[in-house]
Amino acid sequence: MSHERRPSFLAEHVDRLAGTHLRDLLKDAARGKRLRHRLGPILLDLSRQKLDLEALDALGAHVEASGWQAARDAMFAGAPINTSENRAVLHTALRASGSSLPSPAPQDALKEIQQTLTRIDALVKAVELGDATAFGVAPGITDIVNIGIGGSDLGPRLAVRALTPYHVPGLRSHFLTNVDGQSAYELMHQLDPRRTLVIVVSKTFTTQETLLNGNVMRDWISRAYNGDKAAVSRHFLAVSANVAEVEKWGVPAAQVYPMWDFVGGRFSLWSAVGLSLALSIGSYNFHELLRGAALVDDHFRTAPWSENLPVLLSLVEYWNRNAQGRGSRAVVPYADLLTDLTSYLQQLEMESLGKQVTPQGQPVAQSTSAVVWGSVGTNAQHAYFQALHQGTDVVPLEFIGVVKPAHDLSANHDALLSNLLAQAAALALGKTLDEALAEATSGTEEERRVLAAQRTFPGDRPSTVMMLDALTPESLGALIALYEQKVFMLGHLWGINAFDQWGVELGKAIARQILPSLEEGGAGHASSFDSATQALIDVIHERRIA
Ligand code: F6P
Repeated sequence: MSHERRPSFLAEHVDRLAGTHLRDLLKDAARGKRLRHRLGPILLDLSRQKLDLEALDALGAHVEASGWQAARDAMFAGAPINTSENRAVLHTALRASGSSLPSPAPQDALKEIQQTLTRIDALVKAVELGDATAFGVAPGITDIVNIGIGGSDLGPRLAVRALTPYHVPGLRSHFLTNVDGQSAYELMHQLDPRRTLVIVVSKTFTTQETLLNGNVMRDWISRAYNGDKAAVSRHFLAVSANVAEVEKWGVPAAQVYPMWDFVGGRFSLWSAVGLSLALSIGSYNFHELLRGAALVDDHFRTAPWSENLPVLLSLVEYWNRNAQGRGSRAVVPYADLLTDLTSYLQQLEMESLGKQVTPQGQPVAQSTSAVVWGSVGTNAQHAYFQALHQGTDVVPLEFIGVVKPAHDLSANHDALLSNLLAQAAALALGKTLDEALAEATSGTEEERRVLAAQRTFPGDRPSTVMMLDALTPESLGALIALYEQKVFMLGHLWGINAFDQWGVELGKAIARQILPSLEEGGAGHASSFDSATQALIDVIHERRIA
């Protein structure tokens, strides 16, 4: 990171702390009071971050001077804060039903949202009771296939898996995402087309991957009914803001559930995009998820910065990214049920915050989105944790743990949690050369020194721990909303629009240009592309006929 991008108001704090090891900072038990916070079922522990209370107060003064409350209130009220698309950002209105504060969102939006929730509840109940024919759905459904990508996939996928213990019996969920035909091919071999309900989720209904997979599934079901279009349509629901296109594609309007311009794809789990989730866990649990998210929204709207969890999370990220220059952050949930959390956060954070110009078209003043990566622990410990402990780069980590598991294998769970705690401690404390020397008991002094040098851990590596009481619809909703509001705050602090995603468009346009040259009989040898692309097109043509 270039130095001029480091905010000057933090320079003295970075310099002061450069000589203080986290091991020493942790000796001050009082810092826990300011850096450890509970919100409902979530404990957020920031006490292993490499900052002291002075630095925290400097960050607090900065955010207080930034007008964050007015920006936050504008979002909740439905102001068009997504300026490049002239759209409101109202995902919080989707869960206003779970809030204990009155919603400032426009009444017409709240009304449409409520009507949709009522439709979802009724459909879910009918499917549970085994007869959803009144909703256009064929009887005897055993499997649901959610077709969608990005925000139309990652949220429901994360939540359906995370809430496995809450699944209603007799209904299996599947996610078809990638345009790689392999997944569709396998699903078609695994499922019975007459017992499968396909939910095509696409806000725009123009997404190549989703439409191709939709076509494949529609042809497959059509074959089972000898092309009877009415019978086929009973195996499809759609979720989209583009009803006209959906109808043209073959799903009757009555089977389309809405999305709205005022909800971005990556913030849409709480809408009908969560239909496959609602069907998997039932209406009550879906509303519990909304309630968990609303708990965070209410807190975000009312708590002062120093106790406000999303604000604190954003300040810590700002500190690591902009003051300390950390280019990535690893997210490591110690819960197999949260396997999909990291990829969900990759879209939420990197699609939102990977920007380099302000809404006024000016270059940003400092670095924006860190690279988010990671995978579940303890597996991760046996893969890349070596580099996190002893590598040359410092990577802040986020550990997510669950106090009470959904199973009774307590020995496993104790081992899991002890590993989480141990990793956070080891990264912070490290092991000094003297400690390593004391362990090296055999060999010459030189041999002992050489070995000890390799067995030394620098420590001083920051991490956050989030501990959920249990993984429930409520706590999952709260966890996701916490990240959403953190993203909002970082967009605000960095002065960027966190709600558009123009950066995904160029590749889509080039893929459209390339496709005809790969299709059968395509102009594979026309040299209209750059030399590297053309060479690879040629290889594909040559090798597939070889
Ligand atoms: O290409 C990126 C993106 O537009 C994401 O923002 C979005 O979540 C995803 O594609 C899917 O879009 P849609 O729901 O319109 O199919």
